[in-house]
Amino acid sequence: MKVIFVVGKGGVGKTTCAAAVAFAVSKDHNTLIVSLDPAHNLGDVFTTPLSGKAAKVKENLWGLEVDMEGAIKIYLEESSRKLKDMYSYLKAINIEGYLDTIRLSPGIEEYATLEAMQRIISESEGKFEIMVFDTPPTGLTLRVLALPKVSLIWGEKLVKLRKEILSKRLAIEKIEGEKKFVLEGKEFKLSTREEKDEVMQELLSYMKKVGKIEELQTDAKRCMVMPVMNPDRLSLFETRRAFDTLEKLAMPIGAIVVNKFSGKDDENKLITRAESELGRPIRKIPLLEGEPVGMEAIAKFSRYLKVEEWLP
Ligand SMILES: Nc1ncnc2c1ncn2[C@@H]1O[C@H](COP(=O)(O)OP(=O)(O)O)[C@@H](O)[C@H]1O
Ligand SMILES: [Mg+2]
Repeated sequence: MKVIFVVGKGGVGKTTCAAAVAFAVSKDHNTLIVSLDPAHNLGDVFTTPLSGKAAKVKENLWGLEVDMEGAIKIYLEESSRKLKDMYSYLKAINIEGYLDTIRLSPGIEEYATLEAMQRIISESEGKFEIMVFDTPPTGLTLRVLALPKVSLIWGEKLVKLRKEILSKRLAIEKIEGEKKFVLEGKEFKLSTREEKDEVMQELLSYMKKVGKIEELQTDAKRCMVMPVMNPDRLSLFETRRAFDTLEKLAMPIGAIVVNKFSGKDDENKLITRAESELGRPIRKIPLLEGEPVGMEAIAKFSRYLKVEEWLP
């Protein structure tokens, strides 16, 4: 399965371009397009109502809009359940009472988006040949895409720390015997071995899961980012910054779409500049008279992308 991420500033035409690229590839491949933008408008572009479950848009093309509020709720509930299972004594501090507050804490949206992305990718394996992600505006998207790498870094540190804890527990156990304690009438034993330690097992399985996403993200045969910009300087500056980050993350970048091109001289100059600074093929899409909405308009729009020329 191949994954295409369509990224760019709000309003540049990400959703329209994502719909168009999905339309183009769905001619030959079973395709799923997924909107991760909390402000969904993918269904509007196709004029087909979409929800959290994949719905057929046309032959070979399915669409889905992730309920981001729901994804955050699921992420928090899952996290608190795991915490409670692993650290039974935390029941005493009533995690649920904090969930409402935690959901506003920085980073939660990013983790929830990554979890939703990961879940959809793993559920789509074998069902779809190509997945297209319509993403939230650049800043949030780049933070989400950076998370696997970031998580692997702190994951390794936590594994090391946990190993130390377990080895100290084992040393104590050798001297004092097994440590048991009773909480709410239930007996607990502190684990001393990695294979039996739930925290270590959770850490390792999380790293494996995130590692798989990171592998996919950096594999030029399976993943491609398609940046969308408008022919203005602010848009170019932002695309350049996004490029820097994507390069640091070693993510493959396909063609750049310059959307809403009206053919003015200074726009042409800017495109030449973008081409030489960014070193990627550019696809120009004209500023159309009407809004490109509906299947017929998207079909027309998709021809400008010439997907077959740059998609591996
Ligand atoms: N080439 C184009 N010509 C005219 N209007 C366009 C073009 N591309 C996109 N639009 C319109 O611009 C608006 C923003 O596009 P959209 O794809 O929703 O952007 P984003 O997802 O980046 O916020 C929409 O009204 C869309 O129909
Ligand atoms: Mg959009």
